[in-house]
Amino acid sequence: MNISTDLQRSSADGAATSLRRLAEARGLPVGAAVNMAALGGDDPRYAETLRAEFNACVAENAFKPSEVWIGPREYDFSVTDRLADFAAENGMLLRGHTLVWHQQTPRWLSSESGRGVPAEELSGLLRKYIHTMVARYKGRIAQWDVVNEAIHDPDPEGATPGLREESVWHRALGPDYLAQAFRWAHEADPDARLYYNDYEIEDLGPKSDAVYTLLRDLLAQGVPLHGIGFQGHLLNGWRVTEAHRANVRRFTELGLEWAVTEVDIRMRLDGAPPTPEQLADQAEGYEELTRLCVTDPQCRALIFWGFTDRYSWIPGFRKGWGASLPMDEEYLPKPAYHAVCKALTGK
Ligand code: XIL
Repeated sequence: MNISTDLQRSSADGAATSLRRLAEARGLPVGAAVNMAALGGDDPRYAETLRAEFNACVAENAFKPSEVWIGPREYDFSVTDRLADFAAENGMLLRGHTLVWHQQTPRWLSSESGRGVPAEELSGLLRKYIHTMVARYKGRIAQWDVVNEAIHDPDPEGATPGLREESVWHRALGPDYLAQAFRWAHEADPDARLYYNDYEIEDLGPKSDAVYTLLRDLLAQGVPLHGIGFQGHLLNGWRVTEAHRANVRRFTELGLEWAVTEVDIRMRLDGAPPTPEQLADQAEGYEELTRLCVTDPQCRALIFWGFTDRYSWIPGFRKGWGASLPMDEEYLPKPAYHAVCKALTGK
């Protein structure tokens, strides 16, 4: 069975097309987070659909320190190399996610010996890790999420949140760890676009205010920071508002480019299949978000956090929610898929 042909026949207005072809016509990287077990698994639909439908990709987990950084001075590149090869073979832009994060940190760090590593040594180890990773994929990873989710969620009173000081990297290096991480990444690949990435910062509000101030200050210090990633883990009913536009605008006015790095739009299912109304609602959200990206030359990528509901992280992490991606569990395009096509064609 040729899946890509099936998708092409049923997409958009019935003309033979794919997200990938529309993305290429736009000159926009449109991609998906890749589940490496599925890519190497026994279902050929996964790789076929990925290469037919997207001109960009990112690893859902494989590039995280928990997977690569297996000892203080020891790295395992077997899976990351596999994805880099897949991307190159298929002419896809590769995003790197992520170098510095308070979650999915190296496992050895939480072992007894890891916990005993002095702070000054940790700084050197992180520098070496960033240099090694970025240099290895130099010229192959176009955009790096250098720092992920450094800012707290706002408290119920809505006070502007600060840095996650409990992060192992903040504890070891102090607040300067962000600037350092960007500088080290830039040293290893001066051509890579370096991003700060976070969630629930699409709108104006206390958390995006905090991120705005952080990035503005980093830029004022001359830190090599080029982009902001809006993760886009959204709920059904979400729409683009004037506040979203104003928020994107204030970041681009700092001279930053931006990307939608992890979009999925989840709906409440509680075990039931999605209703046509829910799917139509979701399609609207995806269409508006895609339009926001394609109408702004500073939007440099649109990445879904997966592509088929078969492998979405949502049901495991948000109980009762699901159906968040543009294709269903059988890889069939949902209304959201057609909506993204429509927005990409500019209709
Ligand atoms: C998630 C993955 O999808 C899961 O498979 C993993 O178990 C946990 O991480 N923000 C991010 C991503 O930056 O790295 C997260 O990915 C989702 C939220």
